Amino acid sequence: MAHKTWLITGISRGLGLALATAALDRGDVVVGTTRDGRSPPMASSDRLHVLPLVMGDLTRVEQAFSEAAALAGPIDVLVNNAGFGLLGSIETAAQSEIDQIFNVNVYAPLALIRGALPLMRARTRGHIINISSVAAIAPAPGSGIYSATKAALSAVSVSLAQEVAPMGIWVTNVSPGSFRTEFLSEQSVRRTERNVDDYAATSGRAVTGLLNKDGKQIGDPRKAAEAILAAVDADEPPLDLVLGSDAIARTRARLDRFEDDLRQWDDVSTSTDFAN
Ligand SMILES: NC(=O)c1ccc[n+]([C@@H]2O[C@H](COP(=O)([O-])OP(=O)(O)OC[C@H]3O[C@@H](n4cnc5c(N)ncnc54)[C@H](OP(=O)(O)O)[C@@H]3O)[C@@H](O)[C@H]2O)c1
Repeated sequence: MAHKTWLITGISRGLGLALATAALDRGDVVVGTTRDGRSPPMASSDRLHVLPLVMGDLTRVEQAFSEAAALAGPIDVLVNNAGFGLLGSIETAAQSEIDQIFNVNVYAPLALIRGALPLMRARTRGHIINISSVAAIAPAPGSGIYSATKAALSAVSVSLAQEVAPMGIWVTNVSPGSFRTEFLSEQSVRRTERNVDDYAATSGRAVTGLLNKDGKQIGDPRKAAEAILAAVDADEPPLDLVLGSDAIARTRARLDRFEDDLRQWDDVSTSTDFAN
């Protein structure tokens, strides 16, 4: 298998760090981004290049792909990984909180994709991996705005895959369940500043449940990294890669509910066409 060159956003910790480490361990070249350009605490390698990048700075983000290529040579795989969660009910999310999370989780990946595609098209090859979430497939109370950012990213993946397939470019939408990273820690997850008591039984309870899971999540980030490597190495990479038994159960439950609604409302659903 020929060695690949990767650009991975957010390699300071978590899934990004696990993926960068796994790719380096097998001899690949990695350009990883961190906010300050400092290398994360991993075995140092002359095949690791670190690019400073704050995801909110969209002008810089759009240039990052060509900067990475200038550092390490043509990039084979772009991984839009950096992101964070926002917990709280939809009503209580302030516009500034919504803007901030859409900036990092949606607009920054879009800017990177815009920067990457001209170079990938010129080579008629490349693979874009977007780290979405099972929350995009089966949104729960208490994380609706986060789910909305990931649903937007998933929709971009599915549409983009069809647009760029004829150009030899693959797109994979990764939907992890709960992985034991710092995602739910105070260093990562944000909570809406405002709270309304009426939501205590729905989003309030869901948020408490999520925060109690910190450090006990079922998913192993190193195994997620291996799964992503397998997808990148496949002759026919998947469009959707759901990671974790919890994510599979949530996805199946959502699909069953969707299927039930389609079946039960079929007469109504199909009654809206013009007669001719
Ligand atoms: N862990 C899970 O259960 C889970 C489940 C589904 C999806 N995901 C997704 O997986 C991806 C990675 O999350 P994780 O679990 O590895 O969480 P994590 O341990 O909190 O790591 C998040 C990474 O994103 C970076 N990042 C966040 N906001 C940034 C910004 N504004 N500018 C630059 N970098 C930023 C962080 O950099 P700093 O260290 O500088 O903050 C860090 O490298 C995210 O997109 C997340 O939504 C995670």
